[in-house]
Amino acid sequence: MTKSDLQENFRNRFHKEPTHFFFCPGRVNLIGEHIDYNGGKVMPCAISFGTYLAIAKNTDKKLNFQCLNFSETAELHLQSSYSKTGREWFNYPLGAIHHILQNDHAISGLDMLFYGDLPIGTGLSSSASIEVLTAYAISEMFELSISKTDIALLCKKVENEFIGLNSGIMDQFAVAMGKKDKAILLNCDTLEYEYLPFEIGDYVLAIINSNKQRALAESKYNERFAECGAALKLLKKEIEANHLCDIDSATFNAHRHLIKDAVLEKRALHAITENERVKEAKLALEAGDLKKFGMLMYASHQSLKELYEVSGKELDTIVEFSSNYKDCIGARMTGAGFGGCAIALVKKESFNDFSKQLIPYYKERIGYEPQVFASKIGDGVRDMS
Ligand code: GLA
Repeated sequence: MTKSDLQENFRNRFHKEPTHFFFCPGRVNLIGEHIDYNGGKVMPCAISFGTYLAIAKNTDKKLNFQCLNFSETAELHLQSSYSKTGREWFNYPLGAIHHILQNDHAISGLDMLFYGDLPIGTGLSSSASIEVLTAYAISEMFELSISKTDIALLCKKVENEFIGLNSGIMDQFAVAMGKKDKAILLNCDTLEYEYLPFEIGDYVLAIINSNKQRALAESKYNERFAECGAALKLLKKEIEANHLCDIDSATFNAHRHLIKDAVLEKRALHAITENERVKEAKLALEAGDLKKFGMLMYASHQSLKELYEVSGKELDTIVEFSSNYKDCIGARMTGAGFGGCAIALVKKESFNDFSKQLIPYYKERIGYEPQVFASKIGDGVRDMS
C-alpha cells in the first residue's frame, strides 16, 4: 500500500482529500518478556511493519473511523468522553481520543482511514500501534505538544482503563520511541531508557507468525498479572521491594519459602531471572557477542514455557526447529504469547532455506502453516505528510 493508494481510498470514501498521513510501527521484544508490569527492564525494537493513517478534520462534529482491513466502520458524534463498545477494532483509536479528551484537550470532528500491514493480534503490538498512531496524529494536528513518552503513557491507560488489559508500558513506548537499527533498553519502573546498537551483521531478524488464534489471551494475561502481584505480596513480608524485578535471584532464593504456592513461585522465578537475562543481553550486545545473545533468547523461551506457561505447542515447535537449525543462533516467543509470533536470528544467506524447511516441519506437527518474514528495525511513530 503506497501513500497514494491510501489517499485514493480516502478520497473514495470521504469525497475529499486527507490533509495528513501518519505511520506507527509494530514492535518485537528481543528479550525481557512479561516483566514490564513487574518493574523490569525490557529490550523491544520497532519494526518496519505497522499502521498507516490518512486523516482530515471535518466540521460536522463527527468522528468517522474506517479501516481497509476491516469492514466495520463507526460514525460517532463528538462528545467529551467515550466508553468501549463491543470488541471492534475502532475501540483502540477511540480509546486514545477518549484519553486525550480526558486531559482537557479540545479537538474537532475527524475523518480517519486506517490501514495496517502488521498481522493483527499476533503479538507484534498492532493495538499499541493504532493507539499511539491516533494519539500522535491528534497531538500533531491540534498542536497539543504531547511528548512521545506522554503519548506512550496515555496509550497504556487506553489498554488498562478503556480496553481492560493490565498491560505494561513496553509496547506503547517501543512503537512511539523506536529508532532505526537500535534496540531500546527500557527501565519500566523509572522509564529511563537508552538505545543499544542492534548490529546483527550477517544475520536477519526472522519473525514467525504461528497463525494460532489467541483465544482467551486477555484473561490469561490478566491472570499472570494478578499472580505476580500475589507472589510479591508474600515476598514483601521479609523483603523490601516495590516490584518483583527489584529482587535478585540470590535474595529470592533465600526467601522463596514464603511463597507456599508452587505456581506463584514459578511465576516469580521467571520474572526475576528474565530481568537478569536482560542485563546479560545488554552486555552481550555491547560486546558484539551475538551468540551469547542468542543463547539468552533460548533461555528466555524456556522460562516462558516452563515457569510462566505462556508459550504453547505452536511457539515451542518453532523454537525447537530453530534450535536445531544450523544457521540459527537464537529464537524465542515474543510478546504476550498464547500463540502469536516467535523471533529468530538466522544467517542472512540461509533465511530462505530456514523458511522453506520450517514451514513443512510446522505444518506436519500443527496442521497449518506459519508465516515467516524478515523485518528491519525501524523508527517509531512519524508524520508522513
Ligand atoms: C503484551 C503487553 C506488554 C507486555 C508483553 C509481554 O505485549 O502489552 O505490556 O507485558 O505482552 O512482555
